[in-house]
Amino acid sequence: MEKLIITGGRPLYGTVAISGMKNAALPILFACALNRETCILHNVPAVKDIETTVAILTAMGISIRYLSPTTLEVNGANFRPCTSPNAFVRRIRASSYLMGAELGVAGKTRIAFPGGCDFDGGRPLDLHMKGFEAMGAEMSTYNDGYVGEAPDGLSGAKIYLNKASVGATVNLILAATLTPGHTVISNAAREPHIVSLARFLNECGANIVNAGTSEIQIEGVSALHGCTYRIPPDMIEAGTYMAAVAGTGGSVTLTGVYPEHLQATIDKLREMGVEVIDNNALETVTVSSDGHLSAIELETQFYPGFPTDMQPQFAALMAVAKGTSVIREAIINGRFAYLEQLKRTGVKTIGEAKDTAYIEGVAKLSAANMTATDLRGGAAMVMVALMANGTSEIRNVHLIDRGYDNIEGKLTALGADIVRCDEDADYPAPVSEKSVKAPSGLPMK
Ligand code: EPZ
Repeated sequence: MEKLIITGGRPLYGTVAISGMKNAALPILFACALNRETCILHNVPAVKDIETTVAILTAMGISIRYLSPTTLEVNGANFRPCTSPNAFVRRIRASSYLMGAELGVAGKTRIAFPGGCDFDGGRPLDLHMKGFEAMGAEMSTYNDGYVGEAPDGLSGAKIYLNKASVGATVNLILAATLTPGHTVISNAAREPHIVSLARFLNECGANIVNAGTSEIQIEGVSALHGCTYRIPPDMIEAGTYMAAVAGTGGSVTLTGVYPEHLQATIDKLREMGVEVIDNNALETVTVSSDGHLSAIELETQFYPGFPTDMQPQFAALMAVAKGTSVIREAIINGRFAYLEQLKRTGVKTIGEAKDTAYIEGVAKLSAANMTATDLRGGAAMVMVALMANGTSEIRNVHLIDRGYDNIEGKLTALGADIVRCDEDADYPAPVSEKSVKAPSGLPMK
């Protein structure tokens, strides 16, 4: 187990390249199980959840070769449904996508209960089950997981999702791609990762229309063919670096991003007093901040609303913003466990209900030892450590590694003082003073 040691108080300056979108790459890798031909995937992020997915699919007969650290050659010709390795399936949420892929290929599925970030409110899969059942599968749980079978094969169906669930939309697209007939998913998720999955599958010969709207139409095809596809940039990794600069002060340009995916985050940063310049043509966003922020209210929503996956990072900003901020979490129940850890640095909440937090800004945070509770909560801990006076330690880094590629390397290149070491190691040799200069006109915090 490893920890991060962060000495705060340094502004961030420079350029950071954003990696591929984890939550697009995951369903696309599982979608390769539907394809007997070879696909080349570029810009796959080098994060732990991808490593786990590669381990699951490889154990199930799918051939995966790394052509570079971010380019994978994937061939699903020898996919063996219902053979997933339980221990790996239990590590990630996206392993639930095996159900759609297995039902689509073989008309049967059997997987252990998927894992992933553990939120207090639980993460039900009832909408996935209802959708599979509408397509003709009989679904049930056994003591350790899910099992399902469509004795006469799946058939196209009209499915209404009670909530615009990302996971259920992905799973039903996977199940419907090779299923005879017409499937309609109403109240479908509209997130960019859904659009990306549909584009990838269409490049392989699938017939999926209206992804990105609330009603996705799928006409089943008999087989897919190979393709080459580039995973789009990760809007949450991008948002996290944008928020980090807003909090520490400084000026950073993010490259390889799609600003249109970031509008809700950009809007809220501007409301807090941060300068954000986005350039669609160049695929860049530049964030500049003097570290002085104003309180805001935000409510998480399905895309294109403010993403729940940016909620903890904004709590970190609210901690130092002038005034009282409010967060209403409307997507994932119980996504506030990380706040207890943030409070160790002096973050002040003045009231917390189940899905609402009120955060009163303080002038300065102090260093503390924290333990990551989940992926984005862990990112918020990195942020408060970057803003705090003194040296903080963050344990459970493996949770942060699930979704951030080389977080300490990218932050170090921007001027942060952050090192990774074994959890049991003594404090490492101090990182040498880096000379960080504010470019013209931008004050140091
Ligand atoms: C995806 O999770 C993401 N994970 C999450 O990212 C993200 O937080 C979430 O979407 C919301 O945007 C992946 O893409 C791998 P949901 P998922 O199905 O698919 C309810 C991160 O940090 N619900 O949209 O599990 C339930 O309340 C992670 O990268 C049901 O009631 O999200 C759930 O909390 C964490 N029944 C909410 O909808 C269901 O059958 C959102 O779920 C399904 C969902």
